Amino acid sequence: MSTDPVIAALQTALQAGENLDLRVALGERYQALGEHREAVASAEAALAIDPAHLGALKLAAGAGEVLGMTTKAAAWARLYAALSGAPAPAPAALPTPSIVPSLAAPGEPGGAMRGPSAADADANVLRLVSNEEVSRADGVTFEDVGGLQEVKRRIELAFLAPLRQPDLYRAYGRSIHGGLLLYGPPGCGKTHIARATAGEVGARFTSIGLVDVLDMWIGESEKRLHELFENARREAPVVLFLDELDALGQKRSQMRSSGGRNVVNQLLVELDGLDSSEGVYVLAATNSPWDIDPALRRPGRFDRTVFVPPPDDAARASIITRHMQGRPQEGLDAAGLAKKTAGFSGADLVHLCDSAIEMVLEEALAGGELRPVRMVDFGRALTEVRNSIGPWVDTARSYAIYANEGGAYDDLAAWLKTRKS
Ligand SMILES: Nc1ncnc2c1ncn2[C@@H]1O[C@H](COP(=O)(O)OP(=O)(O)OP(=O)(O)O)[C@@H](O)[C@H]1O
Ligand SMILES: [Mg+2]
Repeated sequence: MSTDPVIAALQTALQAGENLDLRVALGERYQALGEHREAVASAEAALAIDPAHLGALKLAAGAGEVLGMTTKAAAWARLYAALSGAPAPAPAALPTPSIVPSLAAPGEPGGAMRGPSAADADANVLRLVSNEEVSRADGVTFEDVGGLQEVKRRIELAFLAPLRQPDLYRAYGRSIHGGLLLYGPPGCGKTHIARATAGEVGARFTSIGLVDVLDMWIGESEKRLHELFENARREAPVVLFLDELDALGQKRSQMRSSGGRNVVNQLLVELDGLDSSEGVYVLAATNSPWDIDPALRRPGRFDRTVFVPPPDDAARASIITRHMQGRPQEGLDAAGLAKKTAGFSGADLVHLCDSAIEMVLEEALAGGELRPVRMVDFGRALTEVRNSIGPWVDTARSYAIYANEGGAYDDLAAWLKTRKS
């Protein structure tokens, strides 16, 4: 608990009634005090009421980045940039797929010529469209995903086997129904394995987030969502990845604005309208499955959830080895590093490797020798990089204990038990 007087004053003020600006001010204070987890929580509380609150977006992007919530922080930053007109920050922490500028041609709905828009509003809309990330899966396959055997097995059963042996499945009257919802702590490979799933079957990979759907004009978000699904049909076979499903499909009861509810309803319509023969396979991911509208979890929609845990020993070693591949190095002991990084997410490990590399580069820039990365550099990096999933685990634990209806979080509960804490 914070003993800061400003925090206490803001909390008292908020008890008198919700006020978004005060809520964000509270979060900013937390951030200034280095309490990033609370800062993100405040920002998220504000965004649940107003998903386009600029102050909250900025705060969430900054504090989320520090916590290693790479994808989410980048999405918040992009949305902030798009809505504020500020230059879009480079999403440095994100994987870099080939980005096609825009799916909608100018003149088409969703393109440049729509809406009763002022010039800069149009620019925003254009930028929102161009944030959609469409790519070949960049050659990433399951081989590039360390560990996660159970997740791979579940994806194999749900998607890959029916695709590889359609006749066998047809004979038993089984087809691919509904989507798979991946959930787990930030930075542990949900997006990565979704991309790899597309790679496994040579399908395109299209990732859709709230940023791609949200539009400031009433009714346009639903239209945008519909277009994204239509485009996916045209691009089939495609793995359609709904990232941050909690933002896109938040519990309708939690939403104050009807705009958000309409987006969820449209999403239900789109999911129900998908036919597996169309070659559009849906995967979704979230850090907080407990915030997702139950309607989205019904049969035929995201009825199957898969927990994506943080990497185990072997997976950590493989992530480190993979990330260091092709970089000047000497005496890398990936297994040894794996032992020292229990609890690290994949993103934390990538960050660790990058920090070690940076130290060598800094030396070189300061006029030192050009030398390979050694274990001593990792040792120094380890003093700076910490594991970032603790806050998520704390939250998840209470849901696994108190809200595990129908065993929805059994795999999470089992994993929590194996964890020394
Ligand atoms: N099991 C893994 N094998 C190889 N790389 C991994 C693995 N898990 C994570 N990574 C690496 O860690 C980084 C973050 O992973 P990713 O973006 O897939 O996490 P995420 O679960 O989608 O996180 P978020 O919840 O923040 O969206 C990526 O650079 C990815 O390559
Ligand atoms: Mg992700």
